[in-house]
Amino acid sequence: LRIAILASGRGSNFAALLAAHERGELPVEFVLVASDKADAPVLQLAQGAGVPTMVLDPRDYADRRTYDFALFDRIAASKPDLLVLAGFMRIIDGDALKPWAGRMINIHPSLLPKYRGLHTHRRALKAGDLEHGASVHYVTAELDGGPVIAQATLTIETGDDEATLATRLLPLEHQLLPAVVALIAAGRLTLGEQGIAFDGEPL
Ligand code: GRF
Repeated sequence: LRIAILASGRGSNFAALLAAHERGELPVEFVLVASDKADAPVLQLAQGAGVPTMVLDPRDYADRRTYDFALFDRIAASKPDLLVLAGFMRIIDGDALKPWAGRMINIHPSLLPKYRGLHTHRRALKAGDLEHGASVHYVTAELDGGPVIAQATLTIETGDDEATLATRLLPLEHQLLPAVVALIAAGRLTLGEQGIAFDGEPL
């Protein structure tokens, strides 16, 4: 399976994918790391691992739609089978991502459908939730709204704040994302008209 990563920042989820690959747990080829930020640390990680990188700066494009079509055009040139959004901090034009339906996943730090968008830890705390977590989902035109594939959950403890939640959640993300990518690489997960199928059965 040929994978392209889209990321805007730190890249710890990409690092987790690399590590799983190095352990022999991920039968994939990383064909590209694409970013909207020239100074994103994820780019150095990729270069260190010998993965091709590409930066497209939104400020060089007239509007979101033009940018997104250019971005996905360039990505398509690397012929990926799967696009993984790992901390890609942009809303993507629905028409631009349509050709990738069922071939693009995102990791989001909340138990979707709760807390789409930003500041998920803060919102979970404010709501007094007892549980929090992360979700991997297929990407659709709706922000953080596509079908959920899998989630990792933690218990919110007394005294938790945004920072402690983020710190405890991240290692769970780092297990969840490679696990989902491994299932897709093994051909066990698919998205069709009827929703997600796992081993051919509706999830
Ligand atoms: C993660 O919390 C992920 O869930 C969210 O953005 C963050 C990316 O972190 N979508 P990293 O760049 O992978 O370290």
